[in-house]
Amino acid sequence: MSLEEIFAFHAQEVGPVRFAESFGGWVVTRYADVDRVLTDHEVFSSDELRHSTQAIPHSSNPLLRGLQAMDPPRHHVLRRVVSQVFTPRAVSSLEPSITAKVDALLASAGPSFDLIGEVAYPLSVHTIAGLLGVQPSRWPDFVRWTEAITSFFGTSTVDEARQTAFGEALTEMGDYFREEFERPSGIIATLMTSDLTEYELIDFCALLLINGHETTKTLLVNAVLCLVSQAKPSDIGLAGEEVLRYLPPTGGTDRFVTRPTTLGGRELRAGERVVAMITAANRDPEVFADPQTFDPDRKPNPHLSFGHGIHFCLGAHLARMEVRIALAALLRRSWRITDLDTHRTPVGIDILKATLTITS
Ligand code: HEM
Repeated sequence: MSLEEIFAFHAQEVGPVRFAESFGGWVVTRYADVDRVLTDHEVFSSDELRHSTQAIPHSSNPLLRGLQAMDPPRHHVLRRVVSQVFTPRAVSSLEPSITAKVDALLASAGPSFDLIGEVAYPLSVHTIAGLLGVQPSRWPDFVRWTEAITSFFGTSTVDEARQTAFGEALTEMGDYFREEFERPSGIIATLMTSDLTEYELIDFCALLLINGHETTKTLLVNAVLCLVSQAKPSDIGLAGEEVLRYLPPTGGTDRFVTRPTTLGGRELRAGERVVAMITAANRDPEVFADPQTFDPDRKPNPHLSFGHGIHFCLGAHLARMEVRIALAALLRRSWRITDLDTHRTPVGIDILKATLTITS
């Protein structure tokens, strides 16, 4: 698949709220409707286990019990605790280590390298592992757990081998963090001063692993795809926001209707699934001028790629910083994509490999 085909795939249609069998729920694409679904948490719940009337194939998935799947009041209590570890100050303290890691990865990568395998993936693992205080000797295990957990999540069918790998990874990771709780340091020490139960702590660590890793890796890859054939952006911060709008790492997010309501003129019933399509909302011409064009200087840029409302992404500062540092380092040279390997999934396109070669 070429770059143009990838971009064309993301040119989302924005239209009325519609019921789609393939999603098993209401698909919401207009910015105003997506924003309402994200911010009206009393009507649009994140707690699938409690509010969905559909069967749930992956009920052991920690994401279904973690912060992201909670409603107030528990969400409010937990969010206040975990926000302490994601202050701008705490995130900035990671900057030297992320910068050093980017420099080291690029120095060992050579004039032609796989952006995902050699830079984006190790960088995001380094950051999350560093944040969670995982000892370097356990990083190979950490990578294995991450792969088992993230590859399982997002599948709609239950594949036995993946299910086993997923279950084993969760158990091993739970055992690892339980040991860490005996001699807590870093964010784990902060979290342990709260009233979080052991299960909630482990679920939260798993949530960081899942949310923090795949998305940041994808954002960096998407940024390179968008910027590689352009003139160097005058403002990396603005360009990064436009990458988030144009090729968001998270396509959409689900909610469950708690009581009958009207959305975009349609009647929704309690228990129904609502899929808020972030990709589409980010291309709504009501909000963004010339939405199908990538404009690295776009301002303002109120994209919904980190969500909105009480579940707004906790790692947004961190993700922005990581991508800014990596892009600044990459853009000191000029690159060309010399090999691109992609895989079409039911909901999007995975970039499996992107080889970058220095041109000057
Ligand atoms: C929530 C996107 C990076 C941790 C969210 C949500 C989105 C999102 C859309 C809201 C989901 C919803 O409303 O249902 C992204 C993107 C990222 C990124 C695009 C990278 C480019 C990270 C990182 C971390 C993180 C690096 C942590 C290290 C979280 C957590 C939540 C969350 C804990 C749940 C917050 C809550 O429910 O209160 N993220 N994320 N994310 N994100 Fe991120």
